[in-house]
Amino acid sequence: MDSLAAPGADLRAGLDEPAPAKINLALHVVGRRPDGYHALESLVVFAAHGDRLRIAASTEDRLVLSGPFARQIPGGPDNLVMQALDLARTVATDFGSHVPPLRIELEKSLPPASGIGGGSADAAALLRALSRRWPAERRAGLRAASLRLGADVPMCFDGCAARVSGIGEIAEPAACMPALPMLLVNPGVPVSTPAVFGALGRRDNPPLGRLPADGFANAGTLLAALAASRNDLEVPAMALAPAIGEALAQLRERGALFARMSGSGATAFAIFSDDAACRAAAASLAADRPSWWVLPTVVPATGEPA
Ligand code: C5P
Repeated sequence: MDSLAAPGADLRAGLDEPAPAKINLALHVVGRRPDGYHALESLVVFAAHGDRLRIAASTEDRLVLSGPFARQIPGGPDNLVMQALDLARTVATDFGSHVPPLRIELEKSLPPASGIGGGSADAAALLRALSRRWPAERRAGLRAASLRLGADVPMCFDGCAARVSGIGEIAEPAACMPALPMLLVNPGVPVSTPAVFGALGRRDNPPLGRLPADGFANAGTLLAALAASRNDLEVPAMALAPAIGEALAQLRERGALFARMSGSGATAFAIFSDDAACRAAAASLAADRPSWWVLPTVVPATGEPA
């Protein structure tokens, strides 16, 4: 059966889907729900670099891992990508379609458990690729159901700059964002998201506020907004992993216009004035801290300045 839900021809040829790194430019914890999850308000963007999926029809489901961080993630049904495949299949069956057996190659270039999407980005990439030709309402249903896989999965499914709220599932796309030369640095300490939320003291911090109607026309207005915002998880994460503070200090010493931890850490991001300054800081940091993961990248511009 070939149908809209199973992009048969696409899958026979094979689909390539990027799973870009997610960066929380700001993350305010504004409350706690009865189920223990925290209500958040966050400004998220996506980098030009990340993991990659290659998806093709096969005779049986199979996950093949490659890339520098392949050995640090589970290869079987425990991998969130395979749980995403189960979810896509269930939702497709619900509307009379099917997803065939798949061979999924996952090139793992981002450090896992590091606050920049990780397994959520990979799972979201699979769902995005499989549902690209689905009817809009079915696709929206899959996006909503993807929250079951993790709070970050719906925002990674969208993959666009947005102000997110709820526990991460409500997204208001940013009309306009400037290109941001960005350096991502991970000091090699995996940080457990539940442990960071568990170490959080106050849970009713001041909110992030609305996005300006036209988004951010240039880096100056964005940086001013970031200076007035926070990542409420930074202090508890630094208490668990002091190397995060060192990474931030190293980035600031190297001329970053702005540096902060992303998500629940331990990856820190820094915004630079231009690509050359970003690459120079990356080279100097990689030489000084050879065990750290250092990635110069860019957050591509979105929308048109008003
Ligand atoms: O949804 P995900 O599996 O990514 O969340 C991991 C853990 O992080 C949750 O079990 C919860 O302890 C914590 N969390 C939270 N509030 C959020 C997101 C995650 O408390 N909005």
